[in-house]
Amino acid sequence: MTLLLLAMPVIAVIDVPLRSGAQAAPQPQIGEEKRPSVQDVPSAVMKKSRRLFLRDCAPCHGKNGDGNSPVRRTLHPTPLDLTGFDLMDSFILHVLHEGVPGSDMPAWHSSPEDDLRAVSAYTVRLGRPDELADDERYAPSGALQEAGRRIYTAHCARCHGNSGNGDGKDATRYPPIPPSFRGMRPSYAMARRVIESGVPGTAMPSWPLLTPQEIQAVTYYIRSLYAGASGATGATRGTVR
Ligand code: HEC
Ligand code: HEC
Repeated sequence: MTLLLLAMPVIAVIDVPLRSGAQAAPQPQIGEEKRPSVQDVPSAVMKKSRRLFLRDCAPCHGKNGDGNSPVRRTLHPTPLDLTGFDLMDSFILHVLHEGVPGSDMPAWHSSPEDDLRAVSAYTVRLGRPDELADDERYAPSGALQEAGRRIYTAHCARCHGNSGNGDGKDATRYPPIPPSFRGMRPSYAMARRVIESGVPGTAMPSWPLLTPQEIQAVTYYIRSLYAGASGATGATRGTVR
């Protein structure tokens, strides 16, 4: 695992704010996320990571991480399809250290830190994100970004927070609180699903009145908040003051 971390260019030490405000958990270093794939990793490291994922995570998240597990329907909320997201290493580690309060995602206090790093390296590589092809765009980037920002400010910021950290004024009303878009970037397909249908059992509503154009614009905008590509800022699920 150490090998794996060293192999990726470490460009920033992420300061992971904890919900409690206390400084306790180790500060994970993160590498720049360059769409790592399972193939890039030495197979010995991956073997361990995969074994841990299958043992500890697959029972709820499914063996491919897509949420298809036998207990799926009994979980609160139903786990999202992790293959539809770019995830930052530091975000996953934070989720593993803290769990997701108000949901069935447990904290992994008794797992050795090495194991958590290994399993998060595997989880990072589950993502199969899509791109927006030029002929699918409803508008040039600048216009999409601006339209998306307006929709976001009007409808989403009260929960997801002005910067997408999950710290809007209504974020804590119905736990679980929203994850940070800085640490978890949805694919266009995933975002459309979540925005059209909401996330049952959580505060995330469905948005039947948003048009496909508006959904694309707001997705374009929230994807721009992801910190993984430039890696310059901290990212956790809900940086609550
Ligand atoms: C007991 C069932 C259970 C187990 C075991 C479990 N998870 Fe989860 N996990 C969940 C649920 C339920 C959520 C959804 C939380 C939410 O959306 O509010 C979740 C959410 C997550 C998230 C955040 C994504 C999101 O939807 O907000 C990550 C990352 C994650 N799990 C990784 C893991 C990893 C890695 C493991 C193995 C070490 C693991 N989980 C084990 C139930 C589980
Ligand atoms: C009332 C609060 C609330 C509002 C308003 C809200 N959300 Fe959410 N959203 C949530 C919560 C809570 C979750 C986490 C659900 C879970 O635990 O799985 C979430 C999850 C999501 C996700 C999936 C997780 C991720 O990181 O990608 C997306 C995408 C999303 N919201 C987009 C939006 C957009 C776009 C808007 C505005 C049109 C919006 N949300 C408005 C509460 C809200």
